[in-house]
Amino acid sequence: MHTKITALSTYIPEKVLDNAYFEAIVDTSDEWITSRTGIHERRSIAPDETTTDLAVRAVENLTKESGAAIHDVDFIIVSTITQEQNMPSIASQVQNYFQIPATGAIDITAACAGFVYGISMAHSLVAAGTYKKVLVISAEALTKFTDYSDRTTCILFGDAAGAALIEHNETEGILKPISGTFGDGGKELYLSHIADTINGTSIEANNRIHQNGRAVYKWAVQLVPRQVKRLLDINHLTINEIDWFVPHSANLRMIEAICAEMNYSMDKVLESVTRYGNTSSSTIPLALHEGVKQGKLKQGDLLLLIGFGGGLTYSGVIIRW
Ligand code: UT7
Repeated sequence: MHTKITALSTYIPEKVLDNAYFEAIVDTSDEWITSRTGIHERRSIAPDETTTDLAVRAVENLTKESGAAIHDVDFIIVSTITQEQNMPSIASQVQNYFQIPATGAIDITAACAGFVYGISMAHSLVAAGTYKKVLVISAEALTKFTDYSDRTTCILFGDAAGAALIEHNETEGILKPISGTFGDGGKELYLSHIADTINGTSIEANNRIHQNGRAVYKWAVQLVPRQVKRLLDINHLTINEIDWFVPHSANLRMIEAICAEMNYSMDKVLESVTRYGNTSSSTIPLALHEGVKQGKLKQGDLLLLIGFGGGLTYSGVIIRW
């Protein structure tokens, strides 16, 4: 059975944190931030807003913009690394908010790759005929877990949510996905909880995000072109057939390096990092939704999405829009 994304939306919190905000709190500069990352602004959740609120608002926007019904959703997947509590899941709270009568509900932890993992899982569930209408949500309130005394991470992160419906389709919308992981790199990017080691290596257990930026950059710039090739190969496509490349938006310079390696034009990239910073698993739905709003995405276009990050893990999928 074929599947497609039948509706897509986002929720972006109102509060803007520009680069001048960071110049005032840590030893940094607008010049350093823009030249190294491309980031101009990111958004921050309100003090009384929760990650569940972000998820709910993205789904409200999805129903408003597409007119799609969600009472008959039969599975909810929420990608997040910033739950306000480990249980109940955000997926269950979304079920409760919208009073969806009969649905499975789980949260998944795949960090910045989470939205693509969610789409891939939803595709498999619908293609197998197990479920009919799967709601995939990314909801990330990274600013609640950011160390604002660490200039190497605090300038990067922002908050946002995305939501998509995956349903059966007569023709092929979502193609064969790939995923993989390198667990030995876990210590390079983590959000600690109660343990003070990862794979036997000591870490800082302060419930904040920590990143070895250089190591993750090097891993991603080598990994992505290779995995893009693998994804294209299994779908019998070439990079020249891809109309829009939508990589995880962690750093614009990194996307430029990946595109240079693949000999792919930056003009055909959808990104969200310049305006919203690194929003973990929400960067890809943000970039897609902006592409839709700007009239860039045309029916039949081929999109290649690839998420990567904490794990270290990655997931990629090609979509015919
Ligand atoms: O979303 C999950 C996946 N994550 C990623 O893909 C992120 C990948 N990594 C990156 O995007 C980049 O590594 C960063 C943007 C995080 C950092 O950029 P970089 O060019 O790799 O910087 P660096 O960590 O190598 O640091 C270079 C210098 C250091 O100073 P010294 O030791 O050369 O004197 C840092 O202390 O830049 C300094 N630095 C800063 N200076 C001003 C680090 N952060 C800042 C800052 N402002 N905010």
